[in-house]
Amino acid sequence: MKKILRFWSITMLLMAVSVILFACGGDDEGAPAEDGEISKLVVGTDATYAPMEYMDDNGDIVGIDIDIVDAIAEELGIEVEYKNIGWEPLFPAVDNDEVDFAVSSITITDKREESYDFTDPYYIANQLILVPEGSEIASFSELEDDKTISVQINTTGHTVVQKLIGETNPNILAAETMPLAITEMINGNADASVGDNSTINEYMDNNPNEAVKTIEDDDFEKEYYGLMVKKGNDEVRELLNEGIEKIKENGKLEEITGIVVE
Ligand code: ARG
Repeated sequence: MKKILRFWSITMLLMAVSVILFACGGDDEGAPAEDGEISKLVVGTDATYAPMEYMDDNGDIVGIDIDIVDAIAEELGIEVEYKNIGWEPLFPAVDNDEVDFAVSSITITDKREESYDFTDPYYIANQLILVPEGSEIASFSELEDDKTISVQINTTGHTVVQKLIGETNPNILAAETMPLAITEMINGNADASVGDNSTINEYMDNNPNEAVKTIEDDDFEKEYYGLMVKKGNDEVRELLNEGIEKIKENGKLEEITGIVVE
């Protein structure tokens, strides 16, 4: 009798464990749940871009973009998992399904739209120039005269500078990250650094003793950030758009960014 009881309790235990494992299993992939609904998405980012996406002291990925995606996920009732992929590897990571989408202050550009799809815009930015305090440079076009300019590689900052002084001009220092680009300028290897206003302003706020100043230039076009999905991934794009729409409507997006994006 005892033996039979033990047999049954072990069988029940095994069944319970497999039910639990089964329930958890589907989640890891970021794949659609059983009923066809997406329950979790894996999100790639380049967490070197404070205040938008960066690592805090605990090694957690945080920032304005992360707050936005968390708010979207909450509205949609889905889970999100962040992966710090880096800037350049982020694009192939979206292509090869390593992540379901990317959030990384990514400007929606015609060029990128040839290879990727974007959600509706959720943030407006523009380029800003950072120069040493004593610099005589007063506008973007003045950087044309044999000035060395540091940028983060393959960003819109890189593109505007390439347009100004030529795509392969050796006076462009294209760094892996924006902090490295700024360091080049601080160390005297570049006359100016060009990047998104959010990061450059953050640098100014965090380094009040550094002898640098910013230059705005009305020639820079407004840039709109979007969440980036693999070309043709309408399912994820439309779902994210639904979430963006909701946080635009309920004021949550404005609460997080302080900006109204129509
Ligand atoms: N907005 C710029 C672009 O799309 C810079 C984005 C860089 N983002 C980052 N996390 N490093 O090119």
